[in-house]
Amino acid sequence: MAQALYRKYRPKKLEDVLGQETNVQILKNAAKAGRIGQAYIFYGPRGTGKTSTARLLAKLVNCEKRRTDPKFAELGEPCNVCAACREIDAQNSFDVIEIDAASNRGIDEIRNLKENIRTAPASGGSKVYIIDEAHMLTGAAWNALLKTLEEPPKHAVIVLATTEYEKLPPTITSRAQRFIFKKLTKEAIVKKLATEAKAEKIKIEEPALELIAAIAEGSVRDAESLLDQIASLGGTIALADVERITGRTGLAKIAEFAALILKKDLPASLAYLSVLNEEGGNPVQFTKDLIHYLRKVLSLKLNPELKKIFERELTRDEAEIMQELGKIADVAFLVAFEKALIRAYSEMRYSPFAATPLEIALVEILKS
Ligand SMILES: Nc1ncnc2c1ncn2[C@@H]1O[C@H](COP(=O)(O)OP(=O)(O)O)[C@@H](O)[C@H]1O
Ligand SMILES: [Mg+2]
Ligand SMILES: [Zn+2]
Repeated sequence: MAQALYRKYRPKKLEDVLGQETNVQILKNAAKAGRIGQAYIFYGPRGTGKTSTARLLAKLVNCEKRRTDPKFAELGEPCNVCAACREIDAQNSFDVIEIDAASNRGIDEIRNLKENIRTAPASGGSKVYIIDEAHMLTGAAWNALLKTLEEPPKHAVIVLATTEYEKLPPTITSRAQRFIFKKLTKEAIVKKLATEAKAEKIKIEEPALELIAAIAEGSVRDAESLLDQIASLGGTIALADVERITGRTGLAKIAEFAALILKKDLPASLAYLSVLNEEGGNPVQFTKDLIHYLRKVLSLKLNPELKKIFERELTRDEAEIMQELGKIADVAFLVAFEKALIRAYSEMRYSPFAATPLEIALVEILKS
């Protein structure tokens, strides 16, 4: 099987890490000045670049070109061609140790780390320990790690990556530099996917990419994995293919349906649902998507400033359409409808007639 997209397109330089500009800037400056710290916490949702950036840090401290060529070191990027860089990329460097705290809560690993960290690195650079899912470490493991963090050997860097910062003990967090990784915007993900699709000769239409990016909810890795899966269909991938495979509905369709409701067109709304059903759409997921959609319509109506925030997960056109839809109905109607949908959603999850609660909600709210 071909190499997974998310591995093949892992950022090779700090410049490739998208959407984390502040982190990139700080790390690059530290690298330029030769002042990379010894303890870092990378915190944020999955698939936003924590592991990638930790490996970049490992390359920055171990790159042979950086260590021997001061002019090059001033650029603050790894060379990606020296043996050290290549070994780290291939994940077979003796000096970069990745520990998955989720697999066995890390007690043996931290014990090993404590012994292993004392010995000098094989290459003469630094040893870099990347502890993934760090929030899963047990109390005993934290205690063991704390001693090391208090006085790390000069040749060691420790990176703790986590999705749950609150679960790290304060004794640990106070000894490390914290970097927050943010979800990527839908637009940034679409752009990266489009570049990869082009390079891989995957033919895919823009709305299909947009739905993949929306489903990924800010995680580049999730988006890349989904694209991988869908690309195996071959041919030109259209929105309908993504809808069929994921059971999700593109935002354009949800907007279309929302417009029918807000115009209080009951016959057309019911017809729309029956077509959705026939096409094998998932009414539970559809209702959920609709709830999220109308929530944004309502919020935008009440506070147009929110558009800037919503544009992280919507394209500009999509945000505009939402705003326009908000003008059709009044706030009371939107609230009543949202309530009816939430009720329908909780009913349909246990109902053998999944689509019915949604239809009933439509009838009730549009007839009253
Ligand atoms: N900020 C980003 N910029 C570009 N690609 C990214 C970014 N974050 C994640 N990716 C993509 O997702 C893959 C997994 O990222 P990773 O760094 O392992 O995420 P995390 O550790 O935060 O879960 C990468 O190989 C890359 O293809
Ligand atoms: Mg990771
Ligand atoms: Zn190098």
